[in-house]
Amino acid sequence: MGAKDPQAEVEELKRLQRAQARLVTAVQELSLVRTLPSVQEIVRRTARAIAGADGATFVLRDGDKCHYADEDAISPLWKGQRFPMSACISGWAMLNSQAAVIPDIYQDPRIPAEAYRPTFVKSLVMVPIRLKSPIGAIGVYWARERQATEAEVELIQALANTTSVAMENIEVYSDLERRVELRTQQLEALNKELESFSYSVSHDLRAPLRAITGFGELLGRELQERNTEKGTRFLGTIQDNAKKMGQLIEDLLRLSRLARQEVRRTEIDLANLAREIAARYRTEDPKRNVELVIPEHLMVRCDAGLMAVVMENLMSNAWKYTSKTDGARIEVGTQEKEGVTAFFVKDNGAGFEMRYAEKLFSPFQRMHTEQEFPGTGVGLATVQRIIHRHGGRIWADAEVGRGATFSFTC
Ligand SMILES: Nc1ncnc2c1ncn2[C@@H]1O[C@H](COP(=O)(O)OP(=O)(O)OP(=O)(O)O)[C@@H](O)[C@H]1O
Ligand SMILES: [Mg+2]
Repeated sequence: MGAKDPQAEVEELKRLQRAQARLVTAVQELSLVRTLPSVQEIVRRTARAIAGADGATFVLRDGDKCHYADEDAISPLWKGQRFPMSACISGWAMLNSQAAVIPDIYQDPRIPAEAYRPTFVKSLVMVPIRLKSPIGAIGVYWARERQATEAEVELIQALANTTSVAMENIEVYSDLERRVELRTQQLEALNKELESFSYSVSHDLRAPLRAITGFGELLGRELQERNTEKGTRFLGTIQDNAKKMGQLIEDLLRLSRLARQEVRRTEIDLANLAREIAARYRTEDPKRNVELVIPEHLMVRCDAGLMAVVMENLMSNAWKYTSKTDGARIEVGTQEKEGVTAFFVKDNGAGFEMRYAEKLFSPFQRMHTEQEFPGTGVGLATVQRIIHRHGGRIWADAEVGRGATFSFTC
């Protein structure tokens, strides 16, 4: 080439100016989008326009493949196809974190000519999206041989850099959205619990209270008649009921406190925890002969104090509801469910009807009478609340007379 024609130089400058203006518009648009398809749409359109090219592609890294996710071109390129990173130029640009500028693709050993023969492409520029560990690439293509200028490559790289910021933003937003959704679910669950809580307070606390006032009245009369033997018996009943009420209120308070307690995760061994709890029950209840099946270790990252409450409740239920079973057996272990590890506490005790399984996790819902098996019915509500605080799930499987299994993730 000879000396540059001043007229052509002015034209070139004007073109670059227009391209820059396009880029600024794209940057503004990209700062507002919230989804990947809209990023792709802006990028493929802008890349083609600022390069004055015949086509543009938007490539995403997909493991060890290049996914030609989107394109804007005079005739079809490779939209929807995936190629190994090592076998295409977008892979080269990503692996080397640098632009590939190729005036004639049939002269460049990095280009698999076969893949290009059905297309119009003769020359191209491919830039990585994000220079540090690239997540994709932007390609622009011309139907004629052409050496892209440094200024043009810089413009396309600037577009790619903005694209990477936009894609990172999308990730942050969707993460935020996920967290808001989780929080909403937690709040809804909490609200439901509050509702049944207030119902239970008014309903279940009424019975012991009625007994207290009723027997109080009787006691008053008895004392008037100075029949002290009966009086003592009534007084005993009053005291029993008051104690029961105290226990209920105590349990409820503990339950409501859990809602506010922060979850601090550390590595703990559920197997050890279960063994310690069982050892304690054995000492308290030496007549019982319960077979324990617990693996050596069951490691999990969760709040140590809260998980101790979970295991205490599940183990105490297993212990309690096997108290009338010959050959009682309690097993603690893990099982895979939909790719997630669930822990379980399983017994072969009294069991219950599955249609009530959901109810058991509400405060004061009991499947057995106080005479059969004593308890206040807040254990499982407490357990469920703790599991939910960990973002996990808990469910029960049972059969009357054949035992129950409580499984949870956390
Ligand atoms: N392992 C189990 N086998 C059979 N039934 C069970 C078992 N665990 C729980 N249940 C049933 O679920 C109900 C609720 O259990 P939960 O632990 O909340 O209360 P509880 O054991 O009755 O009283 P507490 O508040 O003292 O724990 C129980 O009353 C019982 O009917
Ligand atoms: Mg219990």
